[in-house]
Amino acid sequence: MSKNTVTVIDNRNGNSYEFNILDASIGPSVVDISTFYKNTGMFTYDEGYTSTASCKSDITYIDGETGKLMYRGYDISYMANKKTFLDTAFLLLNGDLPTQEELDNFTLEMKKRSFVHEAVKKLFDAFPDRAHPMAILSAGVSALATLYFKHLDINTSEEFREMSNRIVAKIPTLAAFSYRYSKGLPIIYPDLNRGFTENFLYMMRAYPHQHIELRDVEIKALDTIFTLHADHEQNASTTAVRNLASTMAHPYAAISAGIGALWGKSHGGANESVIRQLEMIGSVDKVDEYIARAKDKNDPFRLMGFGHRVYKNFDPRATILKDIRDDLMGELNISGKLIEVANKIEHIALNDEYFVSRGLYPNIDFYSGLILQALKIPKEMFAVIFVIGRTPGWIAQWNELQQQKNIKIARPRQLYNGPTERTPK
Ligand code: ACO
Repeated sequence: MSKNTVTVIDNRNGNSYEFNILDASIGPSVVDISTFYKNTGMFTYDEGYTSTASCKSDITYIDGETGKLMYRGYDISYMANKKTFLDTAFLLLNGDLPTQEELDNFTLEMKKRSFVHEAVKKLFDAFPDRAHPMAILSAGVSALATLYFKHLDINTSEEFREMSNRIVAKIPTLAAFSYRYSKGLPIIYPDLNRGFTENFLYMMRAYPHQHIELRDVEIKALDTIFTLHADHEQNASTTAVRNLASTMAHPYAAISAGIGALWGKSHGGANESVIRQLEMIGSVDKVDEYIARAKDKNDPFRLMGFGHRVYKNFDPRATILKDIRDDLMGELNISGKLIEVANKIEHIALNDEYFVSRGLYPNIDFYSGLILQALKIPKEMFAVIFVIGRTPGWIAQWNELQQQKNIKIARPRQLYNGPTERTPK
């Protein structure tokens, strides 16, 4: 019996089966069960993939026990504190941090590609007032596949670069347009004199022919939020992107699917829900009542912004954001009921046995919502901000799958519990 294997014994008949263990460069090894059905005639069952590695990847590493997150081997605190979002996007897409010359070229390309085809405006015109910007954005990204159909067939690194840089550059413009359309506001075109993150804030806030001043502290905070969201290995939306990639769908259709998955309030929609929940709680004297509801097994109420499938000790992104929130609140002189309520919830949850014993700590969404509010970003745009950050990660994951030999279409099996064959009446 080889050492690097796992033996599975079927106690019903004593049959034993051996499966190889594949070692990771860092982190848990995996048992290769790709021949499990062939050998045993059974499927494995793992709802929500809590113990299943769905792919091999070089991009992002997370250790949920110690609260570690690395992009291509670089710690998240280094990326957030010393690098910009465009450094991060370049790193995810290309595997290495850019040289100054590469960064300058990438920055320029982002500016040049930031305009969207006027046809997209006609599409946006068709949406009703107050449509959610995530729905508009998902449709807009999907529509890009009609304009760049050639990206369906990518064979060279040059073709990949064109496709990926195009979508990373256009997402902030589409995102800002989504908001402006949802509110009936005039759309603002990108300003080529502004940097990536500044340009997005400008397109969100400006009015035609009006001077607008954006503070460095605001631009830096938003840029860091983008960086912290840039990738998070095989989360629900990335898995959606990879599933589409496995079918050879258009990459922008895959990104559109990722946007749909991210919208859910258990995923990227959580930061919007955090603010809605804080507003609902309303004042510090109501906090205890809602904490009790969160702990009550018979009440579906959950404390939004707490808990994470992978991080069971702390979310390293939340730690960085907490500092930014405190700085920003001081710099912009922001205070108010919402912050007081948030602080009380945070204090109770960090000390309460229910939350501590289940590893339910504030996640990235608990803090990002408050920061985005301080940046005057409306609630319905919070998940859209997440999309801007996550796009380079999705594209990097899409490409990693495309580079694989013998791509397997994502096609899980099931434990069938329906009727056995019925006699037709
Ligand atoms: N409030 C109260 N109780 C909670 C919460 C919460 N926010 N989250 C989990 N629990 C409890 C569950 O009831 C369960 O209790 P039990 O063991 O007594 O049955 C236990 O903690 C484990 O919860 P699961 O749902 O099994 O954990 P899972 O890993 O599947 O879920 C999730 C993680 C979806 C993030 C969950 O914690 C949650 O719903 N949190 C609130 C939404 C949120 O903030 N989402 C953002 C995640 S970060 C991101 O996507 C960027």
